[in-house]
Amino acid sequence: MEKRYAKISSAGRFLPERRLTNFDMEKMVDTNNQWILERTGIRERRILDKGLGNSYMAIRAAREALERANVDASEVDAIIVGTVTPDMFFPATACLVQKGIGASRAWGFDLSAGCAGFVFSLTTGAQFIESGRYDRVLVIGSDVMSSIIDYEDRNTCVLFGDAAGAVLLEPCEEPGYGIIDYIQRIDGVGEDYLHMKAGGSRKPASVETVKNKEHYVYQEGRQVFKYAVSEMADVAVEIMKKHNLTGDDLALFIPHQANIRIIEACARRMKLDPSKVIINIDKYANTTAATIPLCIYEAMVEKNQLKKGDNVVISAFGAGFCWGSVLIKWI
Ligand code: UT7
Repeated sequence: MEKRYAKISSAGRFLPERRLTNFDMEKMVDTNNQWILERTGIRERRILDKGLGNSYMAIRAAREALERANVDASEVDAIIVGTVTPDMFFPATACLVQKGIGASRAWGFDLSAGCAGFVFSLTTGAQFIESGRYDRVLVIGSDVMSSIIDYEDRNTCVLFGDAAGAVLLEPCEEPGYGIIDYIQRIDGVGEDYLHMKAGGSRKPASVETVKNKEHYVYQEGRQVFKYAVSEMADVAVEIMKKHNLTGDDLALFIPHQANIRIIEACARRMKLDPSKVIINIDKYANTTAATIPLCIYEAMVEKNQLKKGDNVVISAFGAGFCWGSVLIKWI
């Protein structure tokens, strides 16, 4: 029997209306548009209104993906939400999405892998389809980074934004297409350089942790940059080599959007023409688990730039460290 692969059959997204530009940030911390643009590639980011949680965005992205596929929520078998900013520690955001969209038959869970959260969720969802167990899996990447950012810390506050993206996975009707392969890794060395100091079981929230601002993103940017540049490119190049693909054979590279310099370094290692690289960090900044599904949405829905047989490589790197690349033969 031919192996069954999963395909991305639809996509949806949610972008908060409110824009925070670099010029707005100049009024908040000691920074300037030129520094942010040159060092990161970011021009503006979206910010979710206070009082709304992750599931508000995830539900809307999921609904759009289902509508575009003409699939009823009751047909969804499983929901996986990649995120580091759930509405609450528990229940899982996946449960809130299940209720919000009315996925009456579904089960699901949240997956925590920092900026690789969507990639790990995508490949996990694909396994359920490949095994033959399920036919419809919703995979969502959604993060409200504004809820864990210190807007007095210029080192981190300019970097992140809020958004959600969702894709629907279904079985591929033709062999040899869909989500073909992936390479994923984790390395706990990343704990030192990118983490949230308090609020977990090791250091529960207290008056002191709040006073010390320990519920915000802590990042040693330069260190993370070094790892990101080499590891994100390594797995992308590795998956290309494994499948005998050169830069010329790729139609599109979808990188995690953390820093334009990381993306460009990665594309150079892959020997890619810059026109094949999706870049939207200027519009949305780093939305953690949402960057990749936002790019997929842009390519698939907004620009309609993917056609049957296109080789697409996705690559992401984030907290943990967690990183990985995925090869898709588009259908
Ligand atoms: O997605 C999850 C994984 N995260 C990443 O991949 C992020 C990886 N890291 C980065 O993208 C970069 O390291 C940053 C964008 C965070 C920082 O860029 P950098 O070129 O590594 O700058 P730096 O941290 O080495 O700082 C250079 C200077 C410092 O000043 P001094 O010490 O040289 O006087 C910073 O204080 O830039 C200063 N600086 C700023 N200046 C103006 C840091 N943030 C700002 C700011 N505006 N917002």
